[in-house]
Amino acid sequence: MGKFIVGVIIGILLVPAVFYLYVRSGYAPVATSAPPMPFERFFAKTALHATLNREAPKTHTTTASRGELLAGVQVYRDNCAVCHGLPGKPRSPVARGEFPPPPQLFEPAHMVTNDPVGVTYWKVKHGIRLTGMPGFQTSLTDEEIWNVSLLLANADKLPADVSQTLQAPLTPALPAKPSAPPATKPDHGQK
Ligand code: HEC
Repeated sequence: MGKFIVGVIIGILLVPAVFYLYVRSGYAPVATSAPPMPFERFFAKTALHATLNREAPKTHTTTASRGELLAGVQVYRDNCAVCHGLPGKPRSPVARGEFPPPPQLFEPAHMVTNDPVGVTYWKVKHGIRLTGMPGFQTSLTDEEIWNVSLLLANADKLPADVSQTLQAPLTPALPAKPSAPPATKPDHGQK
């Protein structure tokens, strides 16, 4: 019996001790280019799905007006495109450096058109821990979050003009020559 208890105590202490040594070893993956940590994917995905089942609003329909979609495009281009991309455009440098990689939400393989719109709304509002997905609760209004969620829910059937607005280049090219006058050399007070 005594041996059994000692065994249990060693067992209980061993797991955190090994975990601690692993984290301190310098070999645990922390770079975005490193593979996932043991249990990272399990923890991130399972915990997320359980929370979504409990909290994501379930009643909103995916039917959206043209106005809601266009408003969603504005929100998307300003806040999301840098990571989630635009249709037919290469990934941005930010998107290429993230772990986990942000899904390109207008590529057919990554679209969230089959997700209930309330699930997308929850993700945009609260973000997803242990990924680069920010929560927008404090920076977007509820209406803006619904609009961008509706846009994503309808990503495979957008009206032509909405699609066109979405695809316009994100940043206008900088002018070739700076218009500021050439800098004058400072004289450092030497006369
Ligand atoms: C800094 C980069 C970044 C920005 C900005 C960002 N996201 Fe994300 N987003 C991510 C990453 C990374 C994931 C993947 C999370 C994962 O693997 O679970 C993600 C996941 C998602 C998902 C879930 C996709 C799926 O397949 O389940 C949705 C929906 C989403 N983002 C919408 C948005 C919207 C809408 C915005 C703008 C309001 C936005 N994101 C802004 C990085 C970003």
